[in-house]
Amino acid sequence: MDLELTDRVIVVTGGSSGVGLALVDDLLSCGARVATCARDLDRLEAATSALDGHDPGRLLTMACDVRLADQVDRFIAAAHERFGAIDGLVNNAGQSLMRGFADTAFDEWMSEFELKFAGVIHPVTAARNYLAASDAGVVVNVNAVLARQPEPRLAATSAARAGLLNLTRTLASDLGPEGIRVNSVLLGLIDTGQWRRRFVQRGDDLEQSWEEWSAAIAADRGITLGRLGTAREVSYVITMLLSPRASYVTGTSIDVAGGVGRYV
Ligand SMILES: NC(=O)c1ccc[n+]([C@@H]2O[C@H](COP(=O)([O-])OP(=O)(O)OC[C@H]3O[C@@H](n4cnc5c(N)ncnc54)[C@H](OP(=O)(O)O)[C@@H]3O)[C@@H](O)[C@H]2O)c1
Repeated sequence: MDLELTDRVIVVTGGSSGVGLALVDDLLSCGARVATCARDLDRLEAATSALDGHDPGRLLTMACDVRLADQVDRFIAAAHERFGAIDGLVNNAGQSLMRGFADTAFDEWMSEFELKFAGVIHPVTAARNYLAASDAGVVVNVNAVLARQPEPRLAATSAARAGLLNLTRTLASDLGPEGIRVNSVLLGLIDTGQWRRRFVQRGDDLEQSWEEWSAAIAADRGITLGRLGTAREVSYVITMLLSPRASYVTGTSIDVAGGVGRYV
């Protein structure tokens, strides 16, 4: 099936690793033109230029911290100037804070909220008029199962995720009349830079392989499918939501979590 993404212009924040990098790759494979950012431009360029079929004519890479409105404004303006349109926006950039309530300092709470909210508010504000001018404007916010099912080991991240899910529903109502669809994907535990960093920093059994370590985590968290997900498994779902074929899907969320969510 043709997903009708050929020549569509999609902005992806956080494209240098994990979900963002897999998504950039899949979108280019679908014939889309892609603008992507991260804070570390060297890493972003190294990662994207190593993609199969990488075509610099269809890809814009730029340094941008999504917490900073002026940098986001410049990034979105550059994407529009380069490609002449913006049809889709994926707010993916981010990370989580593995700390319980008592161990989280107040400034860590604030910076966690800042990252989660600024990372959506700034790009949506900057891209809104361009998305409205598209005949298939769409926003996908990359969120987490934590939004519905808080994890005490990730106290601030869970709270911020819940607020972002709430905001995403507001954005769907607000932007819908402009023809812009807004949805979330709620991730469970996905094998990306985040978990690989935790594996490297593990303090316990250093003899454990990644496979043993991640299988133990999957068992501990009660993942129905018994394993972590892959960035590619997330990217496929985001690509489907970005497709004009999903034209009647807005204001909703899809779990990509192997069944870790216990809610119905
Ligand atoms: N992996 C999981 O299990 C999981 C679970 C739930 C939710 N998520 C969420 O899914 C999204 C993607 O995560 P991932 O696992 O693919 O992470 P990842 O592999 O660590 O990649 C994160 C990307 O975001 C960029 N980034 C981080 N902070 C940024 C900022 N302030 N401004 C611009 N770019 C920034 C990073 O590049 P720079 O560092 O160079 O900026 C990188 O390109 C994140 O929002 C994450 O919180 C992941």
